[in-house]
Amino acid sequence: MATTFSSTTLLALALFTLLTSAAHSTLSPSFYNASCPKLQTVVRAAMVDVVRKEPRMAASILRLFFHDCFPNGCDGSILLDETPKFLSEKNAAPNFNSVRGFDVIDAIKSKVEKVCRATVSCADIVALATRDGVNLLGGPSWTVELGRRDSLTANMKAANEFLPGPSSDLAQLLNTFNRRGFTARDVTALSGAHTIGHAHCGFFADRMMGDTSIDSAFASLLQQNCSLSAGGGAAEALAPLDRTPERFDNAYYRDLIAHRVLFHSDQELFNNGPQDSLVRQYSADGTLFAADFAAAMVKMGRLNPLTGTSGQIRLHCSRVN
Ligand code: HEM
Ligand SMILES: *[C@@H]1O[C@H](CO)[C@@H](O)[C@H](O)[C@H]1NC(C)=O
Ligand SMILES: *[C@@H]1O[C@H](CO)[C@@H](O)[C@H](O)[C@H]1NC(C)=O
Repeated sequence: MATTFSSTTLLALALFTLLTSAAHSTLSPSFYNASCPKLQTVVRAAMVDVVRKEPRMAASILRLFFHDCFPNGCDGSILLDETPKFLSEKNAAPNFNSVRGFDVIDAIKSKVEKVCRATVSCADIVALATRDGVNLLGGPSWTVELGRRDSLTANMKAANEFLPGPSSDLAQLLNTFNRRGFTARDVTALSGAHTIGHAHCGFFADRMMGDTSIDSAFASLLQQNCSLSAGGGAAEALAPLDRTPERFDNAYYRDLIAHRVLFHSDQELFNNGPQDSLVRQYSADGTLFAADFAAAMVKMGRLNPLTGTSGQIRLHCSRVN
C-alpha cells in the first residue's frame, strides 16, 4: 500500500512539475530549431516576395503585430474571424478597415504548414514576419523569441479599450504604454514605427482644423491631398506617415522636429515636452534609434504570450481548430 501511495505521489509530483514548468516556460529563439528548422527561411523568403510587390505591407504587418500584442498579449487573437461565439478584434474600432495583412499571414502560414505540419503558431509567424518586413525596408533586425501559442478566442473589448488613439496627448500615451510595462523611452522609440506606411485621412482630420502643433503649410498640403485623392470620401484617402514611407529610417524624428507629422499623438513626443531631447537624439543618430526600436520590439513580443499547453497551434490563422 505504502509503495503504491508513494509512486502515485511521485507520479503526481512529476506531472505537476511538468505542467507548471510548461505553464511558466518562457519564449526562446531556438524553440523550433528541432521541430521546424526551415521556419525562419520560409518566412523570410515569403516576406521578400511580399515586400517586393508592395513595400507598404511591411508596415501593415508591423501594425498588425502591435495590435495583436498590445490589448491582451501576442497570441494571434487579432487574426480570428468573428463567430457566433465571440466578437472579433479585427472589427474593433482601432482595427476595422485599417489593419491589413491578414491574407499575407494566412499565405505564410500555409507555406509553413507544408514544411512542418501543426507545429508553428500564427502568433510566432506574425512576430517573424514583422521583424523581416522592418529589416527589408532598411530597418534593424533582431532575434525573435518564439514558442507562443494561439488564442482560442478574441477580445474586442480589450482591443477597443487598450489601443492608443491618434488624438492622445503625451500623458495618455505614457499611461497607456506604462500599463503594458513600457517606459517613456520605449514609447518614443516604438512610435518611430511611423517611419513607414500610410494612414487614412480620417485619422488625422483634427490636425487640419486648427491644431496649433502642426506646421501650417503642411496642414494645408494634407488637406489638399486628402480632398483631391478622395473620389468622394476624403476619410478614405491615404497619406504617408513620414517623408520616406518605404524606408525604415529616422526621418520620422526629423519630421517631428519640423512639425510635419500626421498624428497629434506623434507630435506630442516633440512639443516642448520631456521627450524632446530623445527625439533630437534619434533624429541625429539613426543607429541609436534602430537599437532602441529593436529592443522595444523584443519587449513587445514578450507581452503575455500563451505558452506550454495553453491555447493551441492553429491550423488556419483565421479560425480555431
Ligand atoms: C503611440 C501610439 C500610436 C498611435 C496613436 C497609433 C495610431 C496609428 C494610426 C491611427 C494609424 C493609421 C492607420 C490607418 O489609417 O490605416 C497608424 C498606422 C501605423 N502604425 Fe501606429 N500608432 C501608435 C503606435 C504604433 C506602434 C507602437 C507601432 C508599431 C511598433 C505602430 C505601427 C504603425 C504602422 C507601421 C502604421 C502604418 C500601417 C500601414 O501602412 O498599413 N504604431 N498608427
Ligand atoms: C537555432 O536556429 C537559428 C536559426 O536557424 C540559429 O541561428 C541558432 O544558432 C540555433 N540555435 C540553437 C540553440 O541551435
Ligand atoms: C501629397 O500628394 C503628393 C502627390 O500624390 C504626394 O507625393 C505627397 O507625398 C503627399 N504628401 C502628403 C503629406 O500627403
